[in-house]
Order: sequence, then structure tokens, then C-alpha cells
Amino acid sequence: MRNRRAALTTLVFASSLALALTACGQNGAGGGKKEKGGTEGATIGIAMPTKSSERWISDGANVEKELKTKGYTTKLVYGEDDPDQQVAQIENMITQGVDALIIAAIDNKSLDNVLRQANDADIPVISYDRLILGSENVDYYASFDNTKVGELQGTYIVDRLGLKDGSKKGPFNVELFAGSNDDNNTKYFFNGAMKVLKPYMEKGQLVVRSRQTGLNQVTTLRWDGGTAQKRMDDLLTSSYRGSRVDAVLSPYDGISIGILSSLKSDGYGSAGKPMPVVTGQDAEIASVKSIIAGEQTQTVYKDLRQLAKVASNMVDAVLNDKKPEVNDTTSYDNGPKVVPAYLLQPVSVDRSNYENVLVDGGYYTANDLK
Ligand code: GAL
Repeated sequence: MRNRRAALTTLVFASSLALALTACGQNGAGGGKKEKGGTEGATIGIAMPTKSSERWISDGANVEKELKTKGYTTKLVYGEDDPDQQVAQIENMITQGVDALIIAAIDNKSLDNVLRQANDADIPVISYDRLILGSENVDYYASFDNTKVGELQGTYIVDRLGLKDGSKKGPFNVELFAGSNDDNNTKYFFNGAMKVLKPYMEKGQLVVRSRQTGLNQVTTLRWDGGTAQKRMDDLLTSSYRGSRVDAVLSPYDGISIGILSSLKSDGYGSAGKPMPVVTGQDAEIASVKSIIAGEQTQTVYKDLRQLAKVASNMVDAVLNDKKPEVNDTTSYDNGPKVVPAYLLQPVSVDRSNYENVLVDGGYYTANDLK
């Protein structure tokens, strides 16, 4: 299983050669790794960002399960949201001789050196959920349509406020939150949402009273709920004395939880002061429960079982010198190259469809949500 990268580049040539050889009655000379069971016992290193969020725990478990089903051994590590720790963990796995790496980056720009080491050791790299930037040593990207995630959040706000069907004209007050500035997904989510919200902001139907509308003003380092709560406290004090906030664009359930705590401390959710529309992402159990309880309004569900399948299939294909299935070869430019990607579709979930999507879809049991 060595020299995979070179093998990949010459794949087309090699396959025609193999065809020619087969035609001559021979059997794929030098193609031992292409034979069934050629990857038997190979070890895949999986680097996940943090255990502090339920989703990444599921991701780790799902990816391990998929790979084990295919006969691989796995090594799963979590970086506690510390970029240096993640780099050290990946270095360690390279030294231990893993055969491939699946990485969900903490800081997307911190991995160039370590990925060079991976390349030198002929270890293919799959960027998982978050695109790794600034490195040519990223082979494939498995994720969701991240722009669509933001569009779903933005659309939910304008729908829910009645702006889209024209039943209400506004103006409504909205505040904007974005994810961590070192996560490449952040700008996709934010730009997707702003594409929908901006026309209404320009017409004055949506008003951001804090005037904090630029991505660099609204990011939340490491997606931390406490940081978001503090910012929401500040916004309520500086911009909402004597007026109310009608909607909050939140990119992720953990951030929504912080925002909701702040709103509750300010009396929202009690008689005469209804909760604003608050979006989210990941359909984490606590947040789905919050949706059922009428606090958080919406989340964006991403089926992590599918993501684990896509990433595992990519690894399996690469290690067997096959081309992984991709469905996007233009959107994800990481600087040195456009990384071929497979993007799954996210789904907007609220109180009206959570049973249908999450329970009937087998993602959670009805009991999980009690
Ligand atoms: C993003 C991911 C989101 C959310 C967030 C915080 O990269 O795409 O689904 O999980 O990180 O963990």
C-alpha cells in the first residue's frame, strides 16, 4: 500500500495498462493492493476536533463503525479544540504508520507542515466536514453543502417572520452570529444566510440595530456557547433597551444555547415577551428538545451517518487505487488547489417536522427526545 499518491496520479495510465495486460491473459501485474482484501488490517487515523459537542462524538463513532465494517483498524483521537494538540496527535499517528488520515480540522490553517509529513510518508488525507486550507496535501473533502446550510437558516428567518410571503412587512430586528473564524465552513454558512437576508436588510424590512453585520464582527471563536452568550448580553444592553429582538441568526446549536440563555435572562420567553426566532445547526439532542419546548425555533440537520459513509468510502477507494465518488469539483478551493468533494444535503428542522425527519428517519428514537 505504499506510493499511493503516485499510484493515484498514474491511475488512468495504470488502468489502461491493466486492461491491456488482462487482454493478454495476465492479471494486473504489480497490482497486489487492488486485489480483494488488499487493505486488510490497514489502520486509519481519525482526528476529530472536540468531545465538547455531541456531534463530533457521533462523528468519531460513526466513522469508526463504517471503517471497521470494511475490515479496517482505526485510531480515533480528539484534539480538545486545541490546534497544537491536534497537530501533535496527527504527527503521532503518522509516526505510528497509519495508512490514511481522516481529519476534521480545529484551525484550518495549522496543518500544512504536518500534512507535508503525511505526504512524505505516502499517507492520503481526507478533509472531514471542514476543509483544510493552505495545503496541497489534501486528497478529498467530505462534507455537506455548507452554503445551503446558511441559506436554510436565512430562509427560515424570513419565512417565519412572514416577510417572504408578504404577510408582514416589518421592520423586524435581527442580530447575526457566525461560527469560528478559523473554520472554513464559517464563511459559507454566513454568506449563504446573508444572501437571503441582505435584500430584506437593504429594503429596511430587517434591521440589525447593533450594526454588526460584517463577518469579522460576528464570529464566535471555537463555536463557544459561553462566548455567544456574552456577546448576546452585550447586544441586548447596547441596542435593545426599549425595543425587542425578533430574530437571531445562529449558525450552530451550541451557540444557540448560549444565545437562548442570554435572552431568557433578559425576560424573553415569558408572557408578553416571546422568544425571537433562533436558528441553529446539527440537531443536537439538547437543541431538538429546546425546539420541542418552544425555545429554539429551528436547526439544520445533517445526517452524520451519511457523512461517515462518504468519508470511509473515500478512504477505501483511495487505498484500493480507485477514484472516490465526488459530486463537486469547483466549490472548495483551499488555496493551492480545488479539492474534489462529495457534498451531502442538509435539511431544515423545526417543531413541525422533527418527528418525521429525525425520529422516522431513525436518527433519534422518540425516547431520546423526551
Ligand atoms: C462546523 C460544522 C457544524 C458545527 C460546528 C461546530 O465546522 O460544520 O456542523 O458542528 O462546526 O462544531
